[in-house]
Amino acid sequence: MSAPRTVTVIIPTFNERDNVAELVERTAVALAGVDAEILFIDDSSDDTAGEVIRVAASASLPVRVIHREHNTGGLSGAVVVGLTEARGDVCIVMDGDLQHPPELLPALLARYADGGADVVAASRYIGGGDSTGLGTAVRFGVSKAATAVTKAMFLRRLWRSTDPMTGFFLVDRTRIDFDELHPQGFKILLEILVRGGERRELRIAEVPLAFDERRHGTSKAGLRQGATFLAHLARLRFGKMGLFALIGGIGAVANIGIMWLLTHLGVDYVLAAIIGAAVTIVGNFVLQELFVFREERHDASRLWVRFAASASFNTVEAALRIPVMALMVETWHISSVIATAISLVVAFFARFLFHALVVYAPRRRKADAGEMPTDTAASRIIRAIDAEAMRPGEL
Ligand code: GDD
Ligand code: MN
Repeated sequence: MSAPRTVTVIIPTFNERDNVAELVERTAVALAGVDAEILFIDDSSDDTAGEVIRVAASASLPVRVIHREHNTGGLSGAVVVGLTEARGDVCIVMDGDLQHPPELLPALLARYADGGADVVAASRYIGGGDSTGLGTAVRFGVSKAATAVTKAMFLRRLWRSTDPMTGFFLVDRTRIDFDELHPQGFKILLEILVRGGERRELRIAEVPLAFDERRHGTSKAGLRQGATFLAHLARLRFGKMGLFALIGGIGAVANIGIMWLLTHLGVDYVLAAIIGAAVTIVGNFVLQELFVFREERHDASRLWVRFAASASFNTVEAALRIPVMALMVETWHISSVIATAISLVVAFFARFLFHALVVYAPRRRKADAGEMPTDTAASRIIRAIDAEAMRPGEL
């Protein structure tokens, strides 16, 4: 019904120099006769970009490379740059290490042409799919478990996806709400499926993928990516506030664990409590810095100011909570259990708001000069609660 559309194959690369020639060659063969381009988004330090330019000279289809000076958002950030800079609206994201066989490209395009889909994912877990290229049994097990948990958390949006973690997929970029995306870590398809179809839910189709062995170089996934993934999931599902609560919960368990250990080792319980509290306060702060407020901290006050503010809040809160609770029991005549629960909930919200609005508040207030004077502290607090608590709002 319409003229053939340009297809852009987006390839994020991080030190994949030795894979470029074969990748471009096999992609060109697979897409012979298709109006297509290849767009590399490169964060390498091994001159992968130079190799792309060299290979592009003799390629039978247009090959471009964007080399980023600053690696923002990692692999996912690179993919979003690719989606924005693509010449075509039909974009296919594919890894640069040949674990995603370019020979599958026609199948993705064919499924898209059949209609009814905004996203066509290459799945390792549907009939004909295969993930032996994942390597060890451990990684396979972890991948399967993570997929199951993720699907359970987003039952409705991921209902039709057997592999929301795959990095090989076609997407019609006109269907994506880019404003809703917060690229982070490796799982860009998950981000797109859960958040990128805000106005209109994305329709998902799949084709089977035989995940190959990596050709050259090494994987960039590791423990750090694992932790980033967990943080990503918590943020997607519960917003920032949920992640904040998760970290607080981990801290509470760690605190108890440390006390238990130290007292069993014969340390005096008061000293054990002080050590436990100190480790927990520092640990929570570090985790919040890394995962909850990682973007905000760049514009906020200096590290030691943030730490001092955060630690002071915790100290004041700890000192106030018990007397306030006692007061509630005395004056309202409620049970101490209920009073404890209320005080913990109130303390949690207060702690989150204090961190979001004070500890990590942008330093340069001048930048807000153009804002309405009606932007009072109260309205900012209400908006913060609203934004953090309601996102992403899936039923
Ligand atoms: N531009 C850019 N920036 N590219 C990156 C970065 C980055 O920070 N980190 C990794 N890449 C590129 C790699 O060069 C490669 O082309 C691709 O992203 C995948 O990275 P690998 O290091 O090969 O990851 P993997 O094989 O462990 O993970 C793949 O499979 C997972 C499923 O098990 C990816 O496709 C994941 O997205 C996928 O979830
Ligand atoms: Mn790989």
